[in-house]
Amino acid sequence: MEKTFLMVKPDGVQRNLIGEIVSRFEKKGYQLVGAKLMVVSRELAEEHYAEHKERPFFGELVDFITSGPVFAMVWQGNNVITTARAMMGKTNPVDAASGTIRGDFATSVGMNIIHGSDSPESAEREIGLWFSAEEVLSFEKTIQRWI
Ligand code: PPS
Repeated sequence: MEKTFLMVKPDGVQRNLIGEIVSRFEKKGYQLVGAKLMVVSRELAEEHYAEHKERPFFGELVDFITSGPVFAMVWQGNNVITTARAMMGKTNPVDAASGTIRGDFATSVGMNIIHGSDSPESAEREIGLWFSAEEVLSFEKTIQRWI
């Protein structure tokens, strides 16, 4: 079963959007198999965003992600990596369609509510970075075979 890493960023947590976001993925039919509310260390933030370390906004990005609690999650289901990205909308909310999370709730490319893994390789890396093996449940709903 495909898994992805999603994180409600500090702006989403402070704006009380955790429930809204979890609800969207639940209603889509995905399963939440790991979750924690946490304040991110600079070390973890820098490792998570390591591929962007040469970009001019890197410091700002790390400052933002460590500025308050985030809600880190692992979700599973059919094509969850690609579908979750579609549900999130484009990185820059200016380009994000209405009906997507960023299109509905965000206005700034920095404070854009949610992060989601962009490929199977990123998902594996990010789940391993944020969660220990014991923190990710291993189960499949047996009744809902369409998921
Ligand atoms: S993508 O999808 O990886 O190509 O997006 P990208 O534009 O490269 O952005 C990568 C992450 O950096 C964040 N970002 C910024 N933060 C602060 N300030 C500025 N100007 C800025 N531009 C981009 C963007 O929200 C992406 O965060 P994640 O968590 O990966 O979505």
